Amino acid sequence: MPLIIDCDPGIDDAVALLLAMASPQLDILGITTVAGNVSIDTTSNNARSICELGQRPDLKIFPGCPRPMVRKPIVAAHVHGENGLGGVSFPQPQMPLQPLHGVDFLRDSLLQVSAPITLATLGPLTNVATALIQAPEIAQKLERIVMMGGAVGAGNVTGAAEFNFYTDPHAAQVVLQTAAEYEVPVVVIPLDVTHRAIATPARRQALRNLSSGNRNNPAETVATMLDNYGLREQREMGFAGPPLHDPCVIAYLLQPALFETESVSATIEITSQLTQGRLVIDRNGELDLPGQIELATNIDADGFYGLLTEALGQLG
Ligand code: BDR
Ligand code: CA
Repeated sequence: MPLIIDCDPGIDDAVALLLAMASPQLDILGITTVAGNVSIDTTSNNARSICELGQRPDLKIFPGCPRPMVRKPIVAAHVHGENGLGGVSFPQPQMPLQPLHGVDFLRDSLLQVSAPITLATLGPLTNVATALIQAPEIAQKLERIVMMGGAVGAGNVTGAAEFNFYTDPHAAQVVLQTAAEYEVPVVVIPLDVTHRAIATPARRQALRNLSSGNRNNPAETVATMLDNYGLREQREMGFAGPPLHDPCVIAYLLQPALFETESVSATIEITSQLTQGRLVIDRNGELDLPGQIELATNIDADGFYGLLTEALGQLG
């Protein structure tokens, strides 16, 4: 499956990248980075560290947009740590960043390809929206977009909004609108589902068991990063560990049967100060929205952790 991953690593982005690297059925054509959990310099640097951890320094990383389209930048260093990777330190990465801007890579590579490409988005949608504004016809080259974003129930930044959509709601709306216009299938995996993908102590121990005590082993590194992740959600929501949001996107690509979905009309609220970034779902067609999405509604969490653990074992 030819794949581009747009991301803002970020602890759960890092786990998603490792899951993708461990999965030979995914042909990762490029990784674009965006400002989100931390600054663009840090997300790009983290993508390099994670590719090296996964022993894939051959992958191409294209740094993208440093700030959202309209609203003021926000970051989530309080969630992911100042370095974006839970305070776990990595050697200074050696692999280069590509000189091409992430938006240019998205636009040019999609303009050039003949076979359609799958796009996985794990962060704010600034890069993807900007590429679609520059050259909307690239949407015709998208097999589908699978994204982590939104909440049907409560958000995690405001009561209404989830981080990726809250951070750049205008970009999210551009992506959903353009996808609708060009009939690109969009799968949205919201918080309601990722909050069921909890890395419990037993699941983290299963990762540690893969490492034979080697602290540089990817599975061990993941377990250590997860020790420092999602602490606020655990406290406030009574979770037994951090939720692994972004790896759900890669798991969906690998084993869609792990998820239940429903087709709904959807858009993003961009005007209200109170609910900006809200994923608006219209099940009964009352709002006459143009965008139809496949919304994930449930996950087989044991199956998901089985897949993740087996895959990370391949990287050791
Ligand atoms: C999303 O926000 C980020 O903090 C995570 O990486 C994930 O993409 C969850 O709301
Ligand atoms: Ca992310």
